[in-house]
Amino acid sequence: MKTRITEMLNIEHPIIQGGMHYVGFAELAAAVSNAGGLGTITGLTQKTAPDLANEIARCNDMTDKPFAVNLTFLPSVAAPDYPSYVKAIIDGGVKIVETAGRNPVQVLPYLKDAGITVIHKCTSVRHSLKAQEIGCDAVSVDGFECGGHPGEDDIPNMILLPRAADELEIPFVASGGMADGRSLVAALAMGAEGMNMGTRFMVTQEAPIHERVKQAILAATELDTRLVMRSLRNTERVLTNTAVERLLAKEKELGDNIEFEDIMEEVAGVYPKVMLDGDMDSGAWSCGMVAGLINDIPSCRELIDRIMVEADGLIGQRLGGMRAA
Ligand SMILES: Cc1cc2nc3c(=O)[nH]c(=O)nc-3n(C[C@H](O)[C@H](O)[C@H](O)COP(=O)(O)O)c2cc1C
Repeated sequence: MKTRITEMLNIEHPIIQGGMHYVGFAELAAAVSNAGGLGTITGLTQKTAPDLANEIARCNDMTDKPFAVNLTFLPSVAAPDYPSYVKAIIDGGVKIVETAGRNPVQVLPYLKDAGITVIHKCTSVRHSLKAQEIGCDAVSVDGFECGGHPGEDDIPNMILLPRAADELEIPFVASGGMADGRSLVAALAMGAEGMNMGTRFMVTQEAPIHERVKQAILAATELDTRLVMRSLRNTERVLTNTAVERLLAKEKELGDNIEFEDIMEEVAGVYPKVMLDGDMDSGAWSCGMVAGLINDIPSCRELIDRIMVEADGLIGQRLGGMRAA
């Protein structure tokens, strides 16, 4: 399939794997890129810039195809050393960066000077327009359904994507709730040039996470995610578990008086415990509503090939067959 995104990123299929903390290691990024999509290493999962340089080198050893690095700008206890991460990305020869969270204006000149294509992931039309204005090349529009941080507007993709299409000139991909060929065709119909998936790529053979995480997503339905940290304006969609229910009880009890320290136990340092050790109730971890559409553990190539075959059939047969003669 040829879209503005496949052309811009030099990839075969318009499918991107979004950055995921303690999931987006070189193994997954390379598997997605080798299957014709765009894989992404999660920059801040690497504790230091030299660690990121090493992860980029590992990915370069595993694929000749383009891959991206995600740089996330979220409120954090200790701010990461972004300039040195940017240097590791540039020195590693990475050609695509997915930025997310706050506006990436502080790093953009360095990335653009190095000839890097920047896709900014954001959750609203106004932030998408801002990304376009400051010079990002594309946007990943993350709807309310998404795993991770859906923002505070709560606009689902059925509205957000056509709104983005009406306003944006740069190309965008649909993110949040995407799982299969139906998602891709719907996203294209609403004006996107491709799709970005997080949760679906966690449940693949190559995702280097604990088997219990994959089984938990397989067992989950679309009813099993919760929104946490809304009271801190840092909303995150997570899979429910005992720690999440405890966190929500604290949020209810403390209301506007809540502070980050009150919920440290449920949110700090959780990702390595869940993703690497399979300690499933150790805290809150991101997961999309799309869990309800995930029923198997294919390889990335099987998943992407299946999506493209399904999309092709939908466009050519189902939709094509509906046209009045
Ligand atoms: C476990 C997990 C961790 C994530 N970590 C990050 C992250 O560190 N940075 C980021 O920009 N997005 C992160 N995301 C969001 C994804 O990149 C993507 O935007 C989102 O998962 C799309 O929604 P979906 O899960 O419905 O496909 C994460 C998502 C998940 C499920």
